[in-house]
Amino acid sequence: MDEKREHWSGSLGFILAAAGSAIGLGNIWKFPYIAGENGGGAFVFVYLVCIVMVGIPVMLCEMTLGRATQKNPIGAFRQFSPRNSHLANLIGVSLIFAGLALLCFRQFGWAAVLSLSGLLVIFYGWTIVGILCVIIPFAILSYYNVVGGWTLGYIYKSFAQELQVGAVKDAGKLFEGFILDFRWMIGLFLGFTLLCALIVIGGIRKGIERWAKILMPILFILLLAVMLRSLTLTGAIGGVKFFLKPDFSKLSSEGVLTALGHAFFTLSLGMGITITFSSYMSRDQNIFLSALSIVFLDTLVAILAGLAIFPAVFAMNFKPDKGAGLAFQVLPAVFNAMPHGWLWCGLFFLLLCIAALTSAVALLEVAVSYFMDERKWNRPKAVWVCTAVIALLGILSAVSIASWDRITWLHCWLVTAFNVDSANFFDMIDNLCTNWFLPLSGLGISLFVGWIWGTRKAAEEIRRGSNNFADVHLIALLAGLKDDPSHNESYHVLTLASIWGIFIRFVAPVAITVAFIWMNAN
Ligand code: ALA
Repeated sequence: MDEKREHWSGSLGFILAAAGSAIGLGNIWKFPYIAGENGGGAFVFVYLVCIVMVGIPVMLCEMTLGRATQKNPIGAFRQFSPRNSHLANLIGVSLIFAGLALLCFRQFGWAAVLSLSGLLVIFYGWTIVGILCVIIPFAILSYYNVVGGWTLGYIYKSFAQELQVGAVKDAGKLFEGFILDFRWMIGLFLGFTLLCALIVIGGIRKGIERWAKILMPILFILLLAVMLRSLTLTGAIGGVKFFLKPDFSKLSSEGVLTALGHAFFTLSLGMGITITFSSYMSRDQNIFLSALSIVFLDTLVAILAGLAIFPAVFAMNFKPDKGAGLAFQVLPAVFNAMPHGWLWCGLFFLLLCIAALTSAVALLEVAVSYFMDERKWNRPKAVWVCTAVIALLGILSAVSIASWDRITWLHCWLVTAFNVDSANFFDMIDNLCTNWFLPLSGLGISLFVGWIWGTRKAAEEIRRGSNNFADVHLIALLAGLKDDPSHNESYHVLTLASIWGIFIRFVAPVAITVAFIWMNAN
C-alpha cells in the first residue's frame, strides 16, 4: 500500500463518500420521472435487473482496478495494460478506416475525430480508457454544475417565498425567466463550482469524507421528512400506485435501454469515480460488501425520492407528465398548494443541492487525482486548475441554456464540422456524455478487466478482505447444502466470483454495445 497516498479512515467513510458520489441528480431528479413514464414498477424491476447484471459487475471492476493499483484511472490502466494489445490495435485500425470511409461522405469533422481516436488507441493502448475516464468529469461537470446552480437559486427563491405559483404553467414561466437570466446562471454555476472546489481542496479525509459524513445523513433526514409529508397528504395513494404499480404495457424496448443507461449514470460508472475513490481504500476493506452497500443506498434513495414526489403531485391534483421539468416546473406549484409549502419546497431543493454537490465533488476528485499522481501537482494547484477549466466550459452551458444565440460562433462551427443539431451547448454535452462517453468507457472497463487484465487477477483482488465473494458456493447455499460436511466439489462450480466473471466477460459488454448502438441509431 502506498503510505504517502491518503486513505479513507475506514469502510464507513468510503461507503458514505462513494454513496454520495452515486446519489445525485440522477436519483432525485431523473429516476422518478423516467420510472413514471416507463411503467412504474415494471421499470423499477427492469432497472434492478440491469443493476444486478451490469451495474454491480462493472462497479466491482472499477473497485478492483482502483484498489489494486492505488492510482488514478490513467495510472491504473497504464499499470495493467500489456505493452502491445492486438485487440486495441485492431480497434485503432478499424477506427482509422472508418474515419477514412467518412471522408467519401464529406463528413470531415467526424472523419478527423475517428481517425484521431484510432491513432490514440494504437498509441496509448488500453490506457485510452483511463484517459476517457479523466476527460469525462470535465465534460459532465460543465453541465451538471449548471443544474447544481439552479438548485442553489431555487433554495433561495423557496425560502424567500418567490416560488408561490398556483399553476404548473406559471411555475414553468418562472423557471424559463430564471434560466434566461444568463448573469444569474453564470453566478449560480460559479458559486456551486466553487463549493465543490472548497470541499475537494480539503483532501480525502478532511474534505470529501468529512463532508460526506455530514451531508449524507442530512440528505437522508430531509428525504424522509419530505417523503412522510408527501405520503400523509390525502390522495397520496394515487401517486404511490403511479410510481410503483407495475404496468408492463407501458414498458417499451426503449424503456429497457433507458433503465440500463440510467443504471450506469446513477451508479457513477464509467466516470472514473469508483476507480479513484477505491484507490484511497485500504487492502483489508471488503470490496464486495462495499459495492452492495453503495448500490443498496443509491437504489433506496431513488425509490424514496419517487415516494416523496409522486404522492404529493397526485394529492394536489397535478399531472405527473412533465418529464424532465417535473422538479423545477411542477413541484413548486405542488408545494405551493400545501400548507407551509415554501418550507417543504426549500427543503426539497436543499436535498437536491446536497445530492448534486456530493456527486460533483467526486467527479472533480477524479481529475484532481490525475494531476496529483501523474503530474505531481499539489492538491490546491490541481483543484484550482481543474476548477478553472470546468468554469470555462460550464459558462458555455450556462449562457446557452436557452438557445445558442449567445455563442453563435461555436454553434456555426459545430454544425459545419459535425452537423450538431442539439438545442443548446448544455444538451449537446449531456448527450455526448450519456450516449457516447459513458457507454464507451463502461465497455472499455469491462473488456479490459474481463479479457486483458483478467477476471482471475481481479477476483483475487476482490477476495482480499471479502472472502464471501469467492467462497460463497451459490448452488450449495441455495440448495441448503452449504454446511453439509459431505458436500463435494461439484457444489463449488457456481461461486459469486464465477458468476461475476461471466457477467463481466459476456453480459456487460454485449448489453452495453446493444444499448450504445440503439441509442445512437435512434
Ligand atoms: N451518479 C450521479 C447522479 O446520479 C452522477 O447524479
